[in-house]
Amino acid sequence: MSTVHRVVVHPSRYTQGASPFEVSTSDAPLKDLNADSRHVLIVGGGVSGLLVAWMLLDKGIRVTILAKEWARTWDFSEPRITSQIAGALWEMPPGGCGLTEIETPGAGWATVEHYREWAMQSYNFYMKYAEVSNEHEKGGSSLGLSVAKLHQFFYDDAITSCSKKSPRHEHYNKYAAVKTRIGGVEVYPDKEAIAQRFDKSIINLSSGGNHFQSGYTHTAPIINTDKALAYLMALVQRKGATLETREVKDLRETGQRLLTDYKADAIVNATGLGARELVNDEDVYPVRGAVRRVENTRHSKFRHLNDAYLVPAQIGPDGLPSKTVFIVPRNDDILYVGSIIQPHNENMNLTPESPEVQQMWDRAGDFMPSLNHAGFVNHFPFAQGLRPFTKKNVKVRADEDCGFPLVHNYGHGGSGWTIGVGTAQCAVHIVETLLDDKDKTGLLQVVGMQTDWSDIKKEKFSNAIKGTLGANEKSELLDKIQASGVPESCKDRLKNVVNSWSAELIKASAKIGNQTLTDVDDRLIDDKTNLLEVVTQSDWNDEEKDKFRNAINGTLGETEKAELLDRVRASSLQIPDTYRDRLTNVVRLWSAELMKASAKATNDAIYPIEDNVYKARL
Ligand SMILES: Cc1cc2nc3c(=O)[nH]c(=O)nc-3n(C[C@H](O)[C@H](O)[C@H](O)COP(=O)(O)OP(=O)(O)OC[C@H]3O[C@@H](n4cnc5c(N)ncnc54)[C@H](O)[C@@H]3O)c2cc1C
Ligand SMILES: *[C@@H]1O[C@H](CO)[C@@H](O)[C@H](O)[C@H]1NC(C)=O
Ligand SMILES: *[C@@H]1O[C@H](CO)[C@@H](O)[C@H](O)[C@H]1NC(C)=O
Ligand SMILES: *[C@@H]1O[C@H](CO)[C@@H](O)[C@H](O)[C@H]1NC(C)=O
Ligand SMILES: *[C@@H]1O[C@H](CO)[C@@H](O)[C@H](O)[C@H]1NC(C)=O
Repeated sequence: MSTVHRVVVHPSRYTQGASPFEVSTSDAPLKDLNADSRHVLIVGGGVSGLLVAWMLLDKGIRVTILAKEWARTWDFSEPRITSQIAGALWEMPPGGCGLTEIETPGAGWATVEHYREWAMQSYNFYMKYAEVSNEHEKGGSSLGLSVAKLHQFFYDDAITSCSKKSPRHEHYNKYAAVKTRIGGVEVYPDKEAIAQRFDKSIINLSSGGNHFQSGYTHTAPIINTDKALAYLMALVQRKGATLETREVKDLRETGQRLLTDYKADAIVNATGLGARELVNDEDVYPVRGAVRRVENTRHSKFRHLNDAYLVPAQIGPDGLPSKTVFIVPRNDDILYVGSIIQPHNENMNLTPESPEVQQMWDRAGDFMPSLNHAGFVNHFPFAQGLRPFTKKNVKVRADEDCGFPLVHNYGHGGSGWTIGVGTAQCAVHIVETLLDDKDKTGLLQVVGMQTDWSDIKKEKFSNAIKGTLGANEKSELLDKIQASGVPESCKDRLKNVVNSWSAELIKASAKIGNQTLTDVDDRLIDDKTNLLEVVTQSDWNDEEKDKFRNAINGTLGETEKAELLDRVRASSLQIPDTYRDRLTNVVRLWSAELMKASAKATNDAIYPIEDNVYKARL
């Protein structure tokens, strides 16, 4: 009963600094939460958000998930979130729902190699999970994971290497990745080999009006998304996560407020298609898909299937991916039959009678004639959803513009379940990197070592580095505000600013004040100016005044920067030269810029820009 099942999550080659870590299926997080635990806000309750939550919790990090909608655990009459609609078959990227799934967006973004790395992390996770979770699975409460044979068929030779210019190259590359990274692949190099392996009464080897020319079989995880999402939601709650139904608007604008309101340290954006509005990301677009849900019991005329069958997308004459057959048995005696690939179409108005759905069904029936005897699941026979694609591929990266810790994990397209464990691991790595900001710590150490600086001076530098004020100084400043001649209506705002201090906050606050002001004149307040005024009017000595001004500005004057730079250079701190260079850069950039620099450095490590890409750009 009390067995703790643990599954190791290995770092990928793109997160080399990270050490492997474990997640557990027990109720208690592997590392206890306490008053000092960091707190991460996750926006989005699909697979991308929930997996990040699970991993953070088992690392002893507090989690609150905000989502507009959650998976339906019993009322199936309402629309379901994308993660629930998915057939949730694991596939080596690029997935079968489109050869164009992975774009070549250029420097600094996820490449097909990142996808494959994330997919393999997920694959290894699922396989290990399948081993340790059996008793949970029998109890009906688990990921709803099954491990099946996946047979794939091609109208061309996908098995033999060919010119990089050939469209076949994509299929070959994928096969090569499967063969080298997954053991036990069965290969059918030609028509005859396929005919020998597959019973013609099950598979129509010339469906689609063409003979299949090659194929292969490997083991693949399949997730029952209804079970998995219900399970993940319950699991993260038992581990201490708070789930709150809430729509978040414009994260870049409101993020800092959210961090203050929830007393949180970082935000993860896992909103799928929602990112379009939320981070105003024009790159995000929907690809409509649909599946029919077929009874896969042993009672009907239809022969029960244990294996999954796939005819991956081909590029049609119109340049769009087309003609897929997707037949996937879940562990609940329901067979998923799909699929449709309709980029830039977000109308959820398909029905089983829609021409494209009928074509999809006919295609599957052509491929597997026994499907024509199958019955549909009567309470939920048909599902449609919008895959969250982006023009620059899945975004698992630190936001480089906003100046507070915001980590994106969205745009998983047709492979959220395939790569989800890997992308979550990467997102968690980024969150941790931003939270233990090594640059900040390094600078603070340098300041701490200055024996010839007065305490007040050290404090000044430390506060500027942290972009914050200590508790004593906050209360001191609050008193000054109270005693000042600032109008009463402004005092409250100023006090809020002081209470939730940070350079970025002031910027955000100034900006919000500005916007509100265009509508409401009497709220035209520049918090920063007012605070500086309060300090100027105070009875503090010049050195003290400077300290507060610097903290308010979130910056140091040029002379002070130069002074600190000298100290960094002369520092006896045991730091490598590369790190010293970083610190020097940080001092030059400073403050909110510090977080941006840190975000950029983190992204650059994960998405290295290759020499040839640089050259191509020049
Ligand atoms: C027909 C079909 C078949 C598929 N088959 C497969 C497959 O075989 N294998 C595979 O790996 N993948 C498959 N997929 C893709 C997979 O479903 C997605 O990649 C995955 O679900 C994306 O998960 P997500 O958590 O990023 O987004 P979602 O599941 O869309 O979750 C987004 C969450 O964010 C919330 N949200 C959005 N905006 C806001 C906001 N402003 N404020 C607060 N909350 C917000 C939503 O309410 C929701 O909780 C398929 C998809 C479809 C449609
Ligand atoms: C096999 O597919 C071909 C081509 O689509 C079709 O003409 C034929 O009827 C199919 N065979 C069966 C048994 O369904
Ligand atoms: C959050 O992610 C969504 C994609 O899901 C993106 O469109 C949006 O821009 C992101 N929000 C922010 C504030 O970055
Ligand atoms: C305030 O609004 C003006 C006019 O729109 C703009 O030029 C200025 O940059 C804004 N200031 C801030 C802090 O956003
Ligand atoms: C703080 O910023 C104001 C303008 O916003 C500037 O006038 C002032 O010189 C700055 N003070 C310091 C100490 O940098």
